[in-house]
Order: sequence, then C-alpha cells, then structure tokens
Amino acid sequence: MILDRHSRINTSEIQARLKTINLGDERFDPEEVGRFIDMMQIYEGAMYEISTKLEILDDEFQVRFSHDPIHHMERRLKSVNSIIGKLERKGLPVAVDSVRDHLFDVAGIRVICNYRDDVYSVSNYLSAQSDIQVLRVKDYIKNPKVNGYRSLHVIYAVPVFLSSGPHYTPVEVQFRTIAMDYWASLEHALRYKTDLPDAKLNEHSQTLLDCARSLQNIEVQMQNIHRDINGAPRMEGQ
Ligand code: GTP
Ligand code: MG
Repeated sequence: MILDRHSRINTSEIQARLKTINLGDERFDPEEVGRFIDMMQIYEGAMYEISTKLEILDDEFQVRFSHDPIHHMERRLKSVNSIIGKLERKGLPVAVDSVRDHLFDVAGIRVICNYRDDVYSVSNYLSAQSDIQVLRVKDYIKNPKVNGYRSLHVIYAVPVFLSSGPHYTPVEVQFRTIAMDYWASLEHALRYKTDLPDAKLNEHSQTLLDCARSLQNIEVQMQNIHRDINGAPRMEGQ
C-alpha cells in the first residue's frame, strides 16, 4: 500500500509562490520558474521509480517466501514553501541550482517494514541494484539519535530518462519498522507542540526516550519469534 502525501507537482502553486519572491529589485524570472517546474517533474519521476522498485521487491518476497517485508510506504514531494524555507535557513540563494546541489530530500519515500530484518534486507537489495547509486547512508537504528529516534536513511541517485537523456536525481528513503514509525509520529507531534510549558515538554521527551528503549526491546523479542517461525538465526537483545 502506498500513501501519497503531496506527491504530484502543482504547477500553479509553484508559479504563484515563486512570483512572490523578491530577489533584490527583480522578481524570480519566468525562465527560472520554468526550470523549477521541470526540476520538480524530474524529482517526481525519481520518486516513482524508486517506489516501483520497492514494490517489485516486496512482491518478489511475497511470491518466494510468503512474507511481505513492507507494511506500507508513504511518498511525498517537498512543497515549494518548504524548499524555499530550507534554502533560506541554510543561507543559500533561492534558485534551481541551489536545490540541485544542496537539497537531497525534495523527493522522499518512507518505507515502513514489519520487522527490523526487513529494513536491512529491503534496503540492501535496493542498494545493490546496478542502475542506482547510494549517495549517503545514516543508520540511526545502529546509532539512535539522543532523543531516541531510530530509522535507516539512505539517499539514492536514480536516472530519470527524459528526451534530453538521463538525469541522475536524489531520493531520500527512510526505512523503519512499524514501532519506529509509531514512535517518530508522536515525537514529531511533540516537537511542534510549542504551547506546552518547558517542564512538561522535558517530561514528555524523557518518557519518549524510555518508550524508544522499550519499543526496541519489544522489537527484538518479536523479531526472534518471527525468526523461529521462519527458521532464521536468533538476534541478540540490545
Ligand atoms: P535536514 O534534512 O536538513 O534535517 O538534514 P538531514 O537530511 O541531514 O537530516 P536527517 O537525515 O538526520 O533527517 C532527515 C529527516 O529524518 C527529517 O526530515 C525527519 O523526517 C526525519 N528525522 C530525523 N530526525 C528525526 C527525529 O529526531 N524525530 C523525528 N520524528 N524525525 C526525524
Ligand atoms: Mg533531510
């Protein structure tokens, strides 16, 4: 199952937003608006290519092993507002070239797997495919963030073939288990909840860190039951 969140380019929204940008005395020039839309179309293509590859792998596992490693996927294109906001935060010029050179998460896919083994098998099979490149890996499962966040982030470059030839385009893929996703959703909601007193926020953050550890233990236990059922070696608790 794929959930689409803002996954199609919206040309009129992009045009309207870029028109409001003032670059000194000049407006964002119409040619650059055109290049921006073309670029977004390429990101959209790259996102669909990677999600199709993931669906094919999931189908193969289902046929060969009667097991679906992927519970569901979510995909989204960064909105024009978020792109501009991020460029400004990073002190970069608002231009197509800055996006291409500095933002690697314009196209994003979240792959929610049933078990931790699935996270690594699906990501390894995808990474091994000869037509795509792995640009960056951040393994927050082996090395969780201090707040307890866990997920495996991989940035892939995939060729999108247009009439002008192949355009290698980055797609950020976040692989995580259902438990990691459950945790990250609540942590994300807490992060944007700015009207709570600091003491309450700190208390909730601490509780979330405890929850992250508990979920990690539960995952290891459930993974081991699943391995026993499927005749795979057991995993050591962490
Ligand atoms: P930015 O994209 O600028 O944040 O830098 P980055 O790409 O180096 O960051 P990173 O790969 O660490 O994280 C990118 C994405 O992962 C974020 O946009 C979130 O979707 C997710 N993420 C990272 N850290 C956390 C976290 O602590 N909590 C939650 N809920 N999500 C996180
Ligand atoms: Mg990012």
